[in-house]
Amino acid sequence: MKIAILPGDGIGTEIVEQAVRVLGVLDLDVETETALVGGAAYEAHGHPLPDATLQLARAADAILFGAVGDWKYDRLERALRPEQAILGLRKQLGLFANLRPALCYEQLTHSSSLKPELVAGLDILIIRELTGDIYFGQPRGRRVATDGHFPGAEEAFDTMRYSKPEIERIAHVAFQAARKRSRRVTSVDKANVLETFQFWRDVVTEVHAQYRDVELQHMYVDNAAMQLVKAPKAFDVVVTGNMFGDILSDEAAMLTGSIGMLPSASLDKDHKGLYEPSHGSAPDIAGKGVANPLATILSAAMMLRFSLNQAAAAERIESAVKAVLSSGLRTPDIWSEGTKKVGTREMGDAVVAALTGKLAGKTTTTKS
Ligand code: IPM
Ligand code: MG
Repeated sequence: MKIAILPGDGIGTEIVEQAVRVLGVLDLDVETETALVGGAAYEAHGHPLPDATLQLARAADAILFGAVGDWKYDRLERALRPEQAILGLRKQLGLFANLRPALCYEQLTHSSSLKPELVAGLDILIIRELTGDIYFGQPRGRRVATDGHFPGAEEAFDTMRYSKPEIERIAHVAFQAARKRSRRVTSVDKANVLETFQFWRDVVTEVHAQYRDVELQHMYVDNAAMQLVKAPKAFDVVVTGNMFGDILSDEAAMLTGSIGMLPSASLDKDHKGLYEPSHGSAPDIAGKGVANPLATILSAAMMLRFSLNQAAAAERIESAVKAVLSSGLRTPDIWSEGTKKVGTREMGDAVVAALTGKLAGKTTTTKS
C-alpha cells in the first residue's frame, strides 16, 4: 500500500512530520512518497497542484495532507492560490464525503470555551458534502450588472447548486454512518430561503425512506449554529452542504477545546481518501514548533481505519493520544493550569513513546 504525503505550507510540514513518525513505529507494510503542494509547490513549480503531485495522489491508496495557504499569496490570481490545491484534489479525486468527528476528550473538557458540562463526553460527526455547492458551482465571476439595484455597477457572483445524485450519495453516507452510532441524523439546510436547500431537504427525506431505523431531523443552518453552542450533545450525525459544513465544522471544533484536535477524512465512493487536520496552515505560528500535531496524527488514524483497513492500528494511535493527554502534556492551544506545555515535536515524541510503551508518567489505565 502506498501513502502520498503532502505536507503543504505553514505548520503543515511540522505536523505531518510528526504523523509520519507515528506511522513509522507501527510496523505497517506501507510505502510513502512525499510531494509539494500549495504555496510550496507554487514556489517550486509555478502551480499549487503540479501534475506530478496530482498523479501521485491518484496512484496512492491514501493521502495524508497537512495544510495549505499563506497571506503572501492572497493577491495571486485565484487559480494559482494555495487553496486551489486542496479544492483541486477534492474535485479531481471525487472526494465528496468529508467526515469531521468532533470528539471532546475527557482530559480536555476544561479547554473548551463552553461550560464543561455542555461538552463533557461530546461525540458528534459532521458529514460535509465536499465537491459541490457554491464552492464549485458554475457560472461564477465578475461582470457589470445589467439589473438589480445598481445596473451598470461592477458585481461578483457565485452559483449555489446541487444535483440529485450528489445529495443522494452524501445522504447515504450519513445514514450509514448513523447506523454505526446513535442512529440519529440532523440534516442542516436553508430550505426556508434557498431553492437549492429545499431540494436538499426533499432529496434527503426521500433517501431516508431506505433507513427507517435511523431518526432524521431537519434543521435550518442558523438554528444549527445556535444549537451547536447551546446543546451540542443533542447532535449525533450532522449532514450538510459544502459551505455550511465548512462553517459548522470550525464551530464544532472549538467545542472540543481546540481546532488543533480535529481530524478529518475526505472519501470517494470507493473509500479511497485524503486525510487532513480540519485546521489550516496557521502562518502566524509556522516555524515556531508550537503547533498541535494531534489533529494530523488522529487523521492518520482515520486513514488506517477507512482506507487501509487497519482498524487495530488506528485504535492504537487513538489510545496513545489519550494516554499522552492523560499524562498532562499539552501544546499551547490546549494548555490549561496544571498541565505541561510542550511543542510540536515533543508532542510527537510523546505519542511515539506511548505507542512503544515508553511514555513517562503514563497513568496505568486510560479511561474512555
Ligand atoms: C477546510 C478549509 C478549506 C475549505 C479551504 C482551505 C479551501 O477551510 O478544509 O475547511 O474551505 O474547504
Ligand atoms: Mg474550513
